[in-house]
Amino acid sequence: MREANVQRGAAHTIRLQGSDEGFRCIAGDTVLASALRSGVAFPYECNSGGCGSCQFELVEGDVDDAWPQAPGISDRQRGRGRRLACQTVPTGDCTIKVRLSADAVPVCPAILTAIFEDVRQLTPDMSEFTFRSQGAARFLPGQFAMLRLPGVDGARAYSMSNLANEERLWRFIIKRVPGGQGTEALFDGLAAGTAIEIDGPFGNSYLRTDTERPIVCIAGGSGLSPVMSILRGLGADSRFDGRRVMFFYGGRGPTDMCVAEMLGAEPALRDRVELHLAISDDEASGAAEWAGHRGFIHDLVRESLGEGFAQYEYYFCGPPPMTDAVHRMLMLEAKVPASQLHFDRFY
Ligand SMILES: Cc1cc2nc3c(=O)[nH]c(=O)nc-3n(C[C@H](O)[C@H](O)[C@H](O)COP(=O)(O)OP(=O)(O)OC[C@H]3O[C@@H](n4cnc5c(N)ncnc54)[C@H](O)[C@@H]3O)c2cc1C
Ligand code: FES
Repeated sequence: MREANVQRGAAHTIRLQGSDEGFRCIAGDTVLASALRSGVAFPYECNSGGCGSCQFELVEGDVDDAWPQAPGISDRQRGRGRRLACQTVPTGDCTIKVRLSADAVPVCPAILTAIFEDVRQLTPDMSEFTFRSQGAARFLPGQFAMLRLPGVDGARAYSMSNLANEERLWRFIIKRVPGGQGTEALFDGLAAGTAIEIDGPFGNSYLRTDTERPIVCIAGGSGLSPVMSILRGLGADSRFDGRRVMFFYGGRGPTDMCVAEMLGAEPALRDRVELHLAISDDEASGAAEWAGHRGFIHDLVRESLGEGFAQYEYYFCGPPPMTDAVHRMLMLEAKVPASQLHFDRFY
């Protein structure tokens, strides 16, 4: 039986049907988080109830559903005994059926208390927030964490924009969502010194060091956050010296374009990254004067790469319509192998 790397209250035992493996689920934790804390490679993507990739079958045992309206599972699937591991909190011992992922868990997530230090505005509706945790800031470039914010139901996923560090700093580029509970708490109510909970790291869209392929990063909006971490990661790692790196960034209008300035401020990235920008909204402020590309970012990627899509390693993040369009284009049209595509959809 695997033990979680976090101890809290009474633990329940989760048995995996058809295997000798199992793990302990700490009080109040989800099946997914406890599996990953124990090093069990449970399949998942968003940890936010949106994608459905963490579904399992509950064979025996009692559970609570943290978010019954989560869109990643239908009523029909629930009726057949299926559950979302990222929203299921066991209330006793359980037996479950799931096909584990072939990949190992790269870093086991841990729960940390963190203090809000400051915020830096990047665009009219996007800012970089900095927190300092009590435990180590351990994560891979491109991963995300779950933030529990005062007065907000459930946790929210945010991708780190910085690198793992000894100073225990966690930085996140976050876009305000009008009417959104989490982003309103962050942008309008968070005073310096406020304590929050950071649970992480999570995510499979991290910088791969075991390939020599040139790199293509694609982001829309706050998808900038994990891509900045990936770029900072490769800029700080000599295994990437001489590697070609392209970055395609899409925003609604010119006022969303903080990327060139951010890269310009980093000596390791300044002359290194080939930057391609596109705006998608002709009505956005300043759009009439924009001399660059107009349209969707996946069209600019298709146009710029021409032939030879399969030679690259891809990292792409942002709103689901953007990531789905990029995914379709690369996988179905360009036939890039799935093992070269690393992405996070920001549900
Ligand atoms: C893997 C991943 C990485 C992300 N990284 C970033 C990032 O770096 N920057 C960024 O700006 N955004 C990121 N997001 C989006 C972010 O998590 C939020 O969805 C967004 O900020 C809107 O949150 P909100 O609370 O303002 O809006 P709301 O509309 O209040 O909530 C939106 C999301 O919160 C979750 N949610 C809502 N209610 C509940 C509940 N009761 N219980 C549990 N969950 C609930 C759902 O996922 C929902 O889609 C990421 C999302 C994912 C999945
Ligand atoms: S990982 Fe659970 S729904 Fe996406």
